[in-house]
Amino acid sequence: MTGLSRRTLFQLARAQAAAVAATGLAPVAPAAAAGVESTGEFPPDFLWGAATSSYQIEGAPKADGKGPSIWDTFAHTPGKIVDGSTGDVACDHYHRWREDIELMKRLGLQAYRFSISWPRIFPDGTGRPNQRGLDFYSRLVDGLLAAGIQPYATLFHWDLPQALQDRFGGWEGRETAHAFADYAGHVAAALSDRVKHFFTINEFFTFVELGHQIGIHAPGLQLPPARVNQVRHHALLAHGLAVQAIRARGRRGTLVGPAENIMTCVPVVETPEHVAASQAAMRDVNGGYTTAMLEGRYPARWLEQQGANAPRVLEGDMRTIGAPLDFFGANVYAPFFYVRAIHGDSGYEVIPLPETYPKFPQSSWLRMGPEGLYWAVRHLSSIWNVRHIHVTENGCGTKDTPNAAGELLDVDRIAYTRHYLQQLQRATAEGMPVRSYFHWSLMDNFEWADGLSTQRFGLVHVDFDTQRRTPKLSAEQYGAVIRHRRVV
Ligand code: FCB
Repeated sequence: MTGLSRRTLFQLARAQAAAVAATGLAPVAPAAAAGVESTGEFPPDFLWGAATSSYQIEGAPKADGKGPSIWDTFAHTPGKIVDGSTGDVACDHYHRWREDIELMKRLGLQAYRFSISWPRIFPDGTGRPNQRGLDFYSRLVDGLLAAGIQPYATLFHWDLPQALQDRFGGWEGRETAHAFADYAGHVAAALSDRVKHFFTINEFFTFVELGHQIGIHAPGLQLPPARVNQVRHHALLAHGLAVQAIRARGRRGTLVGPAENIMTCVPVVETPEHVAASQAAMRDVNGGYTTAMLEGRYPARWLEQQGANAPRVLEGDMRTIGAPLDFFGANVYAPFFYVRAIHGDSGYEVIPLPETYPKFPQSSWLRMGPEGLYWAVRHLSSIWNVRHIHVTENGCGTKDTPNAAGELLDVDRIAYTRHYLQQLQRATAEGMPVRSYFHWSLMDNFEWADGLSTQRFGLVHVDFDTQRRTPKLSAEQYGAVIRHRRVV
């Protein structure tokens, strides 16, 4: 740790202590906590998993009739990926999935969250489905079940069929939302005899904003605000239509929800007034996605902010978007904001993370704020009364180079996981309805614009030249967490 970051941590700790002291109040536990005594353990039915996504691990971009995705196009555009790599091979999981299930088994995973590549199933985005593409996932699911691992399938983790980008302008076209629902229904009809949990869309916020506003993710657009809002609205509509399609075509008992990186607002001090302020802020800052899905409307303050750029909403859209969900999946890496109560219109002030807030050294965006995980869960259950929460992603990216003995002693990842899981354990001990935790990621993979080599998020190291997989020290820790059902 450098002198600078050490100083930052101390300053932060001092500021927090001073804030608590100034109020003279003890931290308040939520109602759910009354009478619950923590043993330090997670509930017996808590499910432990790891996550990946299709473009990041599969490779085989043309195998068995797959069509191109916008990520195939984007990664092959010079200058878009930091190290010039692509997902053409990535972890070659398409050919090595059996070996990868063995890895999961050795880790002791109880569940595995993977994504289905839409252009493997519909190479042209719509029209005739490609059975060979579906067969791959069917074999994978059988393999997982035979290994005693529950499959959790995501339908869209950003690899949109290029054909839809070309034909309809991708998510700018309402047609894409309908195409997504057809695809979702088709997959549910084929796999829901074995897959019980489907996630519609992974991280609206990331692919909409990074892909269509800032342009550093596929399809690499920099659209004006009104068009970004339309993309956002169509993605939400796609989610809602997919929920309907999955319910219509999946087996009875099939469960569906999104996997969204909610923007977590942490109260500056854990007292009722600041907690209430953070709840109000949560609804507003997540107005473009989470609030819209969970309340079936864009909140007034969010719409006000958009002004003339607000999305065009057709009759019935918000009802579709707000369809009741079976669960909510939350990807949580760090808090987005701290919030305090103030007197004024909104009753809160949002405090962005300062430059000095602890940062994960090798990442441009990852912050070290474990309490964000606790508050994500608590807000989902207290604001929107979500009864089933899955933590669908949490993890950290490092460079992870093997030592002379070929070992990967990633104690930074161990510390990260330990801190975040302590916060999650607190949430379960207080009776919050969080059911699972999926570490991101099972193995090092293609980290989008950061490419293959700069941000390794895996519990298992992958040598991309030889495809050799080596479990890191953090895999041993995570395996022990699963066995002992407590933070170790
Ligand atoms: C999330 C993405 C996932 C991975 C992690 C590090 O935003 O869903 O694919 O890139 O970040």
